[in-house]
Amino acid sequence: MSYYRALGLKKEPFSTSPDPEFFYRSSSHDRALKKLEIAIRLRRGLSVIIGDVGLGKTTLSRMLLQSFRGDDDFVFCAVLDPDFNTEYELLLRLAKSLAIGENFSSPRQLKESLERYLFKAGVEDNKTVVLVIDEGQKLAAENIEVIRTLLNYETNEHKLLQVIILAQVELLAKIKNIHNFTNRISLNYRIGPLDEKETRAMIEFRLAQAGLRGENLFTDGALSLIFQCSRGCPRTITMLCHDALERLIMDDKEIVDEGVINDLIKFSQIKKFSHIGHVENVEMK
Ligand SMILES: Nc1ncnc2c1ncn2[C@@H]1O[C@H](COP(=O)(O)OP(=O)(O)O)[C@@H](O)[C@H]1O
Ligand SMILES: [Mg+2]
Repeated sequence: MSYYRALGLKKEPFSTSPDPEFFYRSSSHDRALKKLEIAIRLRRGLSVIIGDVGLGKTTLSRMLLQSFRGDDDFVFCAVLDPDFNTEYELLLRLAKSLAIGENFSSPRQLKESLERYLFKAGVEDNKTVVLVIDEGQKLAAENIEVIRTLLNYETNEHKLLQVIILAQVELLAKIKNIHNFTNRISLNYRIGPLDEKETRAMIEFRLAQAGLRGENLFTDGALSLIFQCSRGCPRTITMLCHDALERLIMDDKEIVDEGVINDLIKFSQIKKFSHIGHVENVEMK
């Protein structure tokens, strides 16, 4: 039996998949979402969201798509891994996703078809077309150039394609000297980690979403320690909590205390949290 069922929960509370149902609106995530929604609605063009690994970029992009779901005025195309070898591949993905077509005689014809589509959708049909690119740090220079040209399609009032790039900080080094790209960025937001209060609230929220009612599964001390060694990174928090609850069941205990978290950190598990450089500083009992 899976550990969460043994705890009387209906769902897995600390799965690492970017599930919107388990999305806790931290102040940083909330601000990012609101800013993105405004940028899209005002058709401002290019938005860039930067965040370290595990801070919630992919989950945020799912939330964004969900918040526009069912609204026919918006057309979304999501690229989860822009590891394309040529500019043609990126354009083709866009054309396929927007149902423009798959067979083009040349990259030029493909670009023209895209431009026609964007003009018709944006001006005649009054729709907002949004391209969401996750893992943006993987974009090759020629694809950054493609995005730049796509952003040139505009009317007097607005851009015909909205582009949202979510990326690790390395993207900034890549685009730093491409001024005609950076000066098109209308929203540049960096996601921050959760503070201690938010870390606790996120854990409680995820447990409640999984069906926990009323009980405490973590002591105060355990929650503090989780915050200290995760530094408020949602992925690390999630993985630690997952392992802690598994341990709870294995050890037939009722509550996760500091000892459990310390053990997890001390013995091997923490290797998974390799980006936590300061683990050695966490007091060991
Ligand atoms: N706001 C949040 N609330 C709850 N869980 C979150 C939140 N942000 C991220 N997570 C969790 O952290 C993990 C990593 O998130 P992810 O979006 O994949 O990060 P990134 O794409 O920045 O590497 C996932 O398990 C996700 O469920
Ligand atoms: Mg991601």
